[in-house]
Amino acid sequence: MAHPASLVYGKPNYDQAVAFVKHSGQAFAFDPTQWIQSLGNDGGSNIRTLTDGAQVLAGLVFHPTAQWYGGSRLTCQVIASVFSAAEARRQKLGYKVMLHGLRETRAQGMPLAALYATTPAFYRALGFEPAGHRLFWKVPMHHLPTVSEGAQFRPTGPHEQAILHELYGRYAKANAGLIDRTEHFWRYHLNPYDGSTLYAYRIDFGDSLEGYVSLRHARANRILTVQDAVVTTPRSARALLTFLSHHQSVADAVIFPDAPQGSLHKLIATNGARFEPTCDEWLLRIVHVPAALEQRGYPLLDARFEIEVDDPAMPENTGRLIFEITRGHARVREGGDGRLRLDVRALAAIYTGFAHPLEMAASGLVDGSESDLALFGAVFAGPRPTLLDSF
Ligand SMILES: CC(C)(COP(=O)(O)OP(=O)(O)OC[C@H]1O[C@@H](n2cnc3c(N)ncnc32)[C@H](O)[C@@H]1OP(=O)(O)O)[C@@H](O)C(=O)NCCC(=O)NCCS
Repeated sequence: MAHPASLVYGKPNYDQAVAFVKHSGQAFAFDPTQWIQSLGNDGGSNIRTLTDGAQVLAGLVFHPTAQWYGGSRLTCQVIASVFSAAEARRQKLGYKVMLHGLRETRAQGMPLAALYATTPAFYRALGFEPAGHRLFWKVPMHHLPTVSEGAQFRPTGPHEQAILHELYGRYAKANAGLIDRTEHFWRYHLNPYDGSTLYAYRIDFGDSLEGYVSLRHARANRILTVQDAVVTTPRSARALLTFLSHHQSVADAVIFPDAPQGSLHKLIATNGARFEPTCDEWLLRIVHVPAALEQRGYPLLDARFEIEVDDPAMPENTGRLIFEITRGHARVREGGDGRLRLDVRALAAIYTGFAHPLEMAASGLVDGSESDLALFGAVFAGPRPTLLDSF
């Protein structure tokens, strides 16, 4: 392997981008042809590689987006396709490319980074912690409600993207963790890269657009698969389920995404809803602690903490902060006695509302008085963090 000092991090040239995509295809077992064809002559501008000056040794993909927490939109770097070359693993190249990527993210002023992990241990060492779920529920068709309450179901799709963005934005803002989908993420729900067909329908009540669903044809196994489901009112949730029930001549069961405490599965009165085993956890990394604390939304309460954050991978986050919330508005400044001590991983899990400080204290990642722990939990409480997207 090249000497660590000679490793170069940055945007790849075209040949390096092609090498990146091939490595990625090998690592994640997909055919790279389509991706290679879509690379511009300058290489993929969202790809980052670690090279020895020529050969690609490790890499990742950035999808700059945002997440909502407490009704506030925070910029978030979604990171995907992380790999190190098969011939160069366990030489800290994956760690290095990730750390470069996180520092670049911080330099761009983005306070958060999120990803799904094949290898949580690898990401924990980089300051990530499981911080939310992406869940699918499977229900036999005959358990679905069948009352549409005057809803109109109309085909929709990429031609109405602006309207669907607005609907989804309303839904995401009221929840926690959902990403502000870019064109790239919308494609998965309306117009997939692999050319497969999705059928999307909007759910209106008179002039009011209250939900939408996109789904795949029932497969040979008679299971209807919902790709995306967004509902903003209880009646649109009931209507969406009713719309799905209209497929029972071709499907025996439906699989749909819904938050851990989402409205869709709760509306199924019988005990038919079951977790799909494909439930995923996603991980969050607080890339810039003061910015993340200040930009988040909070309940309309007052609180004051003197915290000490420990961040072994990014020591620029380590230190003491006074974190004050006044009527839900946060202010952070350096100082204080650090009497509430948090590992940056614990902060990530608490920040999204995924874990309570007491749970993190049980793992030794938080230490503080009972009253500080209870109040810290209260300020981050909110809807259970979830994602509808994969990356
Ligand atoms: C996961 C992957 C990126 C790790 O890259 P790497 O360069 O081998 O990892 P590093 O050498 O930087 O590892 C740093 C630390 O992470 C942890 N780690 C790395 N790989 C691990 C594994 N497979 N299992 C458990 N811990 C692991 C270890 O603590 C390691 O330190 P150590 O070697 O001193 O014990 C690499 O195995 C890979 O490309 N896998 C295939 C693609 C993939 O799964 N990517 C992740 C997508 S989410």
